[in-house]
Amino acid sequence: MNDLESEWEQMTPHWIKEMREGRNATREIQLDPPILDLCGDVTDKDVVDLGCGEGRFSRKLGAQGATVLGLDRSRTMIEAAMSIAGPAEEYRVADVQNLSFLEDASFDLAISYLNQCDLPDFAANTKEVFRILKPGGVFVIANLHPMRSATGLWCKDESGKKLHVTVDNYLESEKRHWKIMGVTITNFHRSLETYVMAYLDAGFKLERIEEPSVSNEALEQYPELDDEQRVPNFILFKLRR
Ligand SMILES: C[S@@+](CC[C@H](N)C(=O)[O-])C[C@H]1O[C@@H](n2cnc3c(N)ncnc32)[C@H](O)[C@@H]1O
Repeated sequence: MNDLESEWEQMTPHWIKEMREGRNATREIQLDPPILDLCGDVTDKDVVDLGCGEGRFSRKLGAQGATVLGLDRSRTMIEAAMSIAGPAEEYRVADVQNLSFLEDASFDLAISYLNQCDLPDFAANTKEVFRILKPGGVFVIANLHPMRSATGLWCKDESGKKLHVTVDNYLESEKRHWKIMGVTITNFHRSLETYVMAYLDAGFKLERIEEPSVSNEALEQYPELDDEQRVPNFILFKLRR
């Protein structure tokens, strides 16, 4: 097991608990609705969920009529997903940078929900997804916003008031370390240009970019999302093969 894998293995029990029992406002309120919109009608579609974790989003797509293959490098995540899988879901341990076990042109939709920032070689993942999508197939990517992965921490005054987010070393593609749920996780910062040009170089057409925020009504219920009206934490891409 390499360092990246063992970090995620440490994180896995906390992650599964949070996804299944936590409030999870970022996903339920801010990210799922626009991502589901970008996916469109998934009824009878063959879908691959790359870096599916414990299967939360795969279950949503399965419940909406898709046939879903969830892939994750963590065996613990995959076992958790399998333990409550619906009839249209299948899960497999795999590194999504190499999908050679999947046939060319075999999926209608691929989803990468906060996974490319974890990959040392996101461009290899992108090329593999292009290969396994049918012509006209869609790749929906949710990622950390490059503005936030470029340091991205708040600069605060003496009273702790948030003044602004720090952006630095934006142009350097490099590893960054974050503490999430008590575990230090390594992920990878890349500029917007690096991401978008890799998508275009792989052969995709870029159809949409979204920087999801939260509405004032949602903020009343979920005040913990207040940062999201100031600086986007996430970015969504819809690509077409
Ligand atoms: C931030 S979590 C997102 C999980 C899920 N998509 C969700 O939104 O709940 C990232 C996931 O990517 C997985 N992962 C990291 N590197 C991977 C790789 N090279 N291949 C497959 N999965 C990977 C981790 O094990 C983890 O489950």
